[in-house]
Amino acid sequence: MSFQHYWYIVAESRELGRDQVLARQVLDERLVCFRAADGRATVLRDRCLHRNAPLSAGQVRQGLLVCPYHGWTYDGEGRVVAIPALGPELRQRHCLPPYAVIEQDGFVYVQLDRTAAAQIRPFAMPHYGEPGWFTLRLQNRFRNNVANCVENFIDIPHTAFVHRRIFRSSTGEKLSARVVLRNAQVHIEYANERRNLGSYRWFLNPRGLAVSHTDSFHAPNVTSVEYRIGRKVFLITSQAVPVSEQETLVYTDLTYRFGLFNRLAAPFVRRYGQRIIDQDLQILALQMDSIQRYGREFRDTPADHIHRLVDSLREAIGRGENPHDLPEACLDIEFYV
Ligand code: FES
Ligand SMILES: [Fe+2]
Repeated sequence: MSFQHYWYIVAESRELGRDQVLARQVLDERLVCFRAADGRATVLRDRCLHRNAPLSAGQVRQGLLVCPYHGWTYDGEGRVVAIPALGPELRQRHCLPPYAVIEQDGFVYVQLDRTAAAQIRPFAMPHYGEPGWFTLRLQNRFRNNVANCVENFIDIPHTAFVHRRIFRSSTGEKLSARVVLRNAQVHIEYANERRNLGSYRWFLNPRGLAVSHTDSFHAPNVTSVEYRIGRKVFLITSQAVPVSEQETLVYTDLTYRFGLFNRLAAPFVRRYGQRIIDQDLQILALQMDSIQRYGREFRDTPADHIHRLVDSLREAIGRGENPHDLPEACLDIEFYV
């Protein structure tokens, strides 16, 4: 197993219109995305077979991708179907092998290496498009790697500093959680989350009900944060797409069920979510600067055991192992926020 075997988002479905060309990069691989004549999303290496111009600088005409340099023309299977310099006598056969693509939950996913990985599917976005649920979609480019991004997305102690007051205030409260590693996932269930939800408490929890809070990590790149307060449910699901070792494109779904307030709450939820992410973008860029200069060498508190387990899954993939084979682990942690 390697990181290339997993599915990564290259675009939201709505971004890839007909006759549109998108340039993307995943795990340092340059990709060009377009829709073939039958509407299917196609992803090819962004490099023309003729003289290696980037195809993403070209155009799509009737579902065919035309290279900007000498006009070699590719179909949805990556076959060269026209070479202007040969006129009508196209006797040469050339093909740019297409990557495996799946379109699901409003996202276009690519898999860079399809060998030995038939059982891996894209992560299913929870409650996407279900009646009664509302999803807002954000995209943010982090100047940091996937490991540090996913760590941040399920890290509690930073919230009282980076998101002071907006999301959580430091009250010296003790939190306890059960952390379980199983099936290439890490699940964290917080036992005694209460009302410490910062300035948005009046909306999220006006009656001071018990807050149920679980986080999870799904190897290699998905995190999910879930709050349940009475009948209200609020989920933050993030897919961190590795662009390079210094850059991660994060697709975040804010999915919620607020009953009658679903539509009304949308602009407010979007602004709230983006404001929090902006603060994380900043601190993660600073962290990357420091790591690039001095290397990555971390020290831990009990709260960081979560991140160690997440790292252990990603490191297993990095070694070519199947993260499902890691032994199960369960531990109880306590820390203060
Ligand atoms: S480089 Fe693409 S057609 Fe020549
Ligand atoms: Fe954060």
